[in-house]
Amino acid sequence: MVLFNVSRVETTPFGDQKPGTSGLRKKVKVFKQPNYLQNFVQSTFNALTPQNVRGATLVVSGDGRYFSKDAIQIITKMAAGNGLRRVWVGQNGLLSTPAVSAVIRERVGVDGSKATGAFILTASHNPGGPNEDFGIKYNMENGGPAPEGITDKIYENTKTIKEYLIADLPDVDITAIGVTSYCGSEGQFDVEVFDSASDYVKLMKSIFDFESIRKLLSSPKFTFCYDALHGVGGAYANRIFVEELGAQESSLLNCVPKEDFGGGHPDPNLTYAKELVARMGLGKSNSEVEPPEFGAASDGDADRNMILGKRFFVTPSDSVAIIAANAVEAIPYFSAGLKGVARSMPTSAALDVVAKNLNLKFFEVPTGWKFFGNLMDAGLCSVCGEESFGTGSDHIREKDGIWAVLAWLSILAYKNRENLGGGKLVTVEDIVHNHWATYGRHYYTRYDYENVDAGAAKELMACLVKLQSSLTEVNEIVSGIHSDVSKVVHADEFEYKDPVDGSISKHQGIRYLFEDGSRLVFRLSGTGSEGATIRLYIEQYEKDPSKTGRDSQDALAPLVAVALGLSKMQEFTGRSAPTVIT
Ligand code: G6P
Ligand code: ZN
Repeated sequence: MVLFNVSRVETTPFGDQKPGTSGLRKKVKVFKQPNYLQNFVQSTFNALTPQNVRGATLVVSGDGRYFSKDAIQIITKMAAGNGLRRVWVGQNGLLSTPAVSAVIRERVGVDGSKATGAFILTASHNPGGPNEDFGIKYNMENGGPAPEGITDKIYENTKTIKEYLIADLPDVDITAIGVTSYCGSEGQFDVEVFDSASDYVKLMKSIFDFESIRKLLSSPKFTFCYDALHGVGGAYANRIFVEELGAQESSLLNCVPKEDFGGGHPDPNLTYAKELVARMGLGKSNSEVEPPEFGAASDGDADRNMILGKRFFVTPSDSVAIIAANAVEAIPYFSAGLKGVARSMPTSAALDVVAKNLNLKFFEVPTGWKFFGNLMDAGLCSVCGEESFGTGSDHIREKDGIWAVLAWLSILAYKNRENLGGGKLVTVEDIVHNHWATYGRHYYTRYDYENVDAGAAKELMACLVKLQSSLTEVNEIVSGIHSDVSKVVHADEFEYKDPVDGSISKHQGIRYLFEDGSRLVFRLSGTGSEGATIRLYIEQYEKDPSKTGRDSQDALAPLVAVALGLSKMQEFTGRSAPTVIT
């Protein structure tokens, strides 16, 4: 057994280590500064209870982006230095964010051990590479992101840190599965490298009816396509879709994980998932090659998802509503019924209508997956989702891209259970249209203004808040811009009181609510790494089935004009158009 010594290394604080919505995200160059990562890791260890450090088991892995391999070596040595008992690493350092959550909750080590937390190395959907982003976040024993109490403590620690502990271990080989043991003055320290997919695949098989999905995927009527955007989803795609479910290998796009995501932007939306969007025939009425019936993509760390039908886009807000409406029939895990459903505030109210019709508990939480975790731990929520391409359930405490794909395949398999032999295939588009016919349609779009001047963004938001004090003035502006738009009846900043722990989260987005149920929401992104990103969410409800088939940008044009006018978007940001429209 290799012996190691621990040294205390003196360090000085960095002023910019405040974790955002999903941990600390910065340019790789920032992370490469001497002691930068070490300070954050030590500050995290110092924020945890001693039981979660001394003698504990820690998972360390991520989406495989550039700098991950160096980070895994540093964190492993610091874990040994801080008296942890063992570190678990997915082979080659790869674990999707949902798989990390599953590993913390479900995995039992070769010696019967269980993990109490994880460092997830990812900047999610942000690009990777030497000039791009890296990120790190800590997840707790329940498999979910650290709550604000802990992240605040981490931040406080980063401001006063004076030293960190690190062991002089040799670099660990993370390419080969197996356990390596080391011996320090306080006893043994193990590094266990394990297969990245096994635990996650096992969990998925316990949730979904793989046999019925296999029948769907092997039917000549049904064609399928999954794009991992060179993120870590690729490490699961072959195992799940090809080996377990019998999809063709040619149905997998960009499924080799790459440190720089092939130079792309690993964000599954209509702007960045270009190849998939083209393959699915979106934006073209006729393509030379017949597009697949179903297409999906996930982001860098495979927690986000985008669902597409042939020449058809499913909005994330509709997706969660449709999954919730069909879960009990189509997904064995939910056969006993849903405990409740939840969405983030800017997500459309499509889920609200399902909850009302099916008499389900319903929650509206601020943006950020951690808010769902509390509800799930308390047994109040089974299915939840966000407009930001996040969908998931209480099987873990993160959103889950591949789970969402399997949920949709389950619904398709269920709807087509009698017509795979003969009869017309019920398509993704049919499922969505039928949903609108039953529940009405929430026209929805999001405008993102990325990397705008932070000061200007703050001013814009401050003006919108100020404007809320006079609805008369607001309505004068609204009717001056577009006479067809209904009246604003309420305007506020969203505030959330957690029903489980009573904690209050303020300033969670500026809302303008209209008489006809339409909404405008303005928020500053909490995940960017440069400047500020303003997000504008626009929504309009249509109950009349004869009017649910319009193009969403056409249907929403008057409300968009009102939003841009109310916020003086161009005046404040100097931008005449958003960077991304979804
Ligand atoms: C991450 C979180 C999501 C959240 C999203 C918001 O992806 O995991 O739960 O919805 O960030 O991002 P934003 O950039 O809008 O703050
Ligand atoms: Zn992600």
